[in-house]
Amino acid sequence: MLNNFSISERKVAIIGAGFVGASIAYALTIRKLAREIVLIDIHEEKTIGEALDIQHGIPDMGISSVKAGNYEDCKDCDLIIITAGRNRKPGETRLDLIAGNSAILKNVVDQMKPHYTKGVIMIVSNPVDVLVYQCTKWMGLPNGMVFGTGCILDSSRFTRLIADYTRLNTEVVKATIVGEHGDAQIPIWSRVSIAGVPIQEYCENVGLRWGENIRKDISDKVREMGATIIKGKGRTHYGIATCVCYLAEAVLNQRLTIAPVSTMFQGEYGIEDVCLSVPSIIGVNGVEKRLEERWAEEEFLAFRQAAEKMRNVLKTL
Ligand code: 2OP
Repeated sequence: MLNNFSISERKVAIIGAGFVGASIAYALTIRKLAREIVLIDIHEEKTIGEALDIQHGIPDMGISSVKAGNYEDCKDCDLIIITAGRNRKPGETRLDLIAGNSAILKNVVDQMKPHYTKGVIMIVSNPVDVLVYQCTKWMGLPNGMVFGTGCILDSSRFTRLIADYTRLNTEVVKATIVGEHGDAQIPIWSRVSIAGVPIQEYCENVGLRWGENIRKDISDKVREMGATIIKGKGRTHYGIATCVCYLAEAVLNQRLTIAPVSTMFQGEYGIEDVCLSVPSIIGVNGVEKRLEERWAEEEFLAFRQAAEKMRNVLKTL
């Protein structure tokens, strides 16, 4: 149900004002997605600098304000976005960040929780599936109020590569990655469509080559994309910031969307007590439902293996 709030009254806190947090604040601002954006980080001077810099985009900001704040500002937020943590160095996997970033998240939750009154918590830091699991347990909120960006970024990269291959607008490509935001990600090829037409049929129709080697090439490139970007520029932040805005719009604007984000499973696909991404209905209360889709048998199998991998990772915490 829509209520009388307008999007411009919304309050968002971003914890972690590094490249990712600042890019998110910037993207939220130019899309006028919130009335008030608060940046929180231990590096106070840098945070003040980021907030001032973003704040001066007046012609494109409407009535939004951006400020540097502290954990008390987490009160009454509609959305709290957590980006705090170290990012990957070239050669590292996201799972190599577990110990450090899990300790940072614990610290964030300990400081944020006393001031938390309401709102959805979106985890962006890596390894996102593990951190969503921990934050869900620590916060004790209803299922779906804590979710992670998960495979939305991988799905976005997947869509982009298919659009490039077919030379089509990304809007007509429907392509989803599920599972871990990491090596155990699963491209759901059985469901990839071009404006509703299965991709193989589309390619046959327009005389474009299609087959296992093309699928493998695209899937491999998507899985390696984060590492490829990090090798080039040392970090990724623009792509994820745009994906976060897309999800924030669903939460703040009270318009449901469907995207593959990471939440705690409660028996869907026979899986529980691990966090992974599947297409989920997202709205003002975060993830309202994880969709149970009819994938190909090998895709189910790979998904169950991803859950097993996550379960083993969680045992090491
Ligand atoms: C990415 O895939 C590093 O997880 C981040 O861009």
